[in-house]
Amino acid sequence: MRILAIETSCDETAVAVAEFRNGRGQSRTYPRTNADKTIRVNVLSHLISSQVKIHAKFGGVVPNLARREHEKNLVPMLRSALTESHLLKKNPRAPANTSIHRCIEVEGILQREPELLRRFKKSIMPLTPPDIDAIAVTYGPGLAPALWVGVNFAHALAHLWNKPLIPVNHMAGHLFSAFLQKSGVKCLQPTTYNLPPIKFPLLALLVSGGHTELVLMQKRGIFKIIGETRDDAVGEAFDKVARILGLKYPGGPEIARLAEKGNPRAYALPRPMLHTKDYDFSFSGLKTAVLYLVRSLTQTKFGSVKKADIAAGFQAAAIEVLIKKTIRAAKEYKIKTLALGGGVAANALLRAALAAAIKKELPHVAFFIPDQTLCGDNALMIAVAAYFAGKKKSPEQAMSLRADANLRLG
Ligand code: KG4
Ligand code: ZN
Repeated sequence: MRILAIETSCDETAVAVAEFRNGRGQSRTYPRTNADKTIRVNVLSHLISSQVKIHAKFGGVVPNLARREHEKNLVPMLRSALTESHLLKKNPRAPANTSIHRCIEVEGILQREPELLRRFKKSIMPLTPPDIDAIAVTYGPGLAPALWVGVNFAHALAHLWNKPLIPVNHMAGHLFSAFLQKSGVKCLQPTTYNLPPIKFPLLALLVSGGHTELVLMQKRGIFKIIGETRDDAVGEAFDKVARILGLKYPGGPEIARLAEKGNPRAYALPRPMLHTKDYDFSFSGLKTAVLYLVRSLTQTKFGSVKKADIAAGFQAAAIEVLIKKTIRAAKEYKIKTLALGGGVAANALLRAALAAAIKKELPHVAFFIPDQTLCGDNALMIAVAAYFAGKKKSPEQAMSLRADANLRLG
C-alpha cells in the first residue's frame, strides 16, 4: 500500500510518500489481516518545511501566517515529493485530458485558497495521477486555518486523481511515530523502517505543544484518553518558561540545552497534581511558580547560572510528574506496550528517565520511542497512522470532511 500524506496542523508543512509491505514481501494489501506481522515501511519521500523563523519574532505561531505559508508551500513540496518518489509524470494530453467536471470541482474545493488554486492549476493539473493507493491528511487537532489548507488540498487531489482519502488525527500520528524502528540496514535508499507487531493493552504518553495526554489502547483501533492536562500542555509550558527566561521560540529545545548546565535542585518548584488519583496533569501553576521565582530573583542578581538552575528545576519538575503518572497508569491497566510521542518526546531527559523508570518498575513492558527526527510534526507519522488506524473515504465521501481544531482521540 502506497500512501501520500499531508500534514499542516501547525507551523510545519509536511508531505511524505511511504510504501507499506508486510513481512512476506507482499505489498499493497490492506493491513488489518497483517496485524501480527512486522511491516516494512519504505520512505520514498519525507519533506518538512518549518516556519519556525517566521513565527519566532511573534513568540508563537500566528495562525493566519501559518495558513499563508502552507498555501505557498504545498504545491512545490508535493511536486518535489513525487519527483523523489519517481512518481511525477506529466500528462502529455493534459489539461485537455482532465475532465472539465473535475476542474470545476477542484475550483470549488479550493475557492477559499486562491493562491493554492492558482498553483494547483498550473503545476498539479497537468500531471498524470501518480501510482498511489490513498491520500492521508491531518484533519485535527490543530490550528483551524492551517488545518483547512491541508484538508482542502488533499480533498482536491483525491478528486482530481480519483483516489481515496484517509483523514488522520494528528495525535494518532504522534502515537504511531514511536513504532517506526530504523531497519538497521545502512546506506539503503530509500530509508526503511520496521513497524513491529504491537501487543495490547498499549499506553501512550503524548506530549506536544498543544497536548499532554495519556492514551490507552486496549485493542487495535480503540483509543481512550485516560488523562490529560487541565490547562497548559507541557510543550506550551516549556515555551512559556523559555519566554520568561528570555530564551527564543520554540522554548523546549532551549530549556533542555540550558538545563544541562543547571542544578535541578537549586530551587524548590512544585510538582502539580503528582499525587492526585486521576491521570490528569496541570502545568500552568508550575509556569507561574517559575514566573514568581524569576521576579523575586531579578530584584537581586539574575545571571546565567540562576537561569540554568531554573531551567533545570522546571524541566525536572515537569518530567517527574509525567513519568510518575505514566508508570502508575501503566501498572493499573496492566499494559504490555508503552509509547512516547510528540514534540516534547525529543527531550533527552524525558527519554532517558522514562526508559530508566520502565526498566526498573515494568521490565516486561515493551517501550517504544520515536527517532529524534520524528518527534516533531511530520507527514510520515500521518502515513503510518493512516495505514494502522485510518478509514478510507471515497473522493465523494471526502466532500463532508471538515477540519476539526478540537478533534480528540477516541
Ligand atoms: O508535536 P509538536 O512538534 O507540535 C505540536 O503538535 O504541538 O510539539 C512542539 C512542542 C513545542 O512546545 C516545543 O517547545 C516542544 O515540542 N519541544 C521540546 C523539545 N523539542 C521540542 N520540549 C522539550 N524538550 C525538547 N527537546
Ligand atoms: Zn504535533
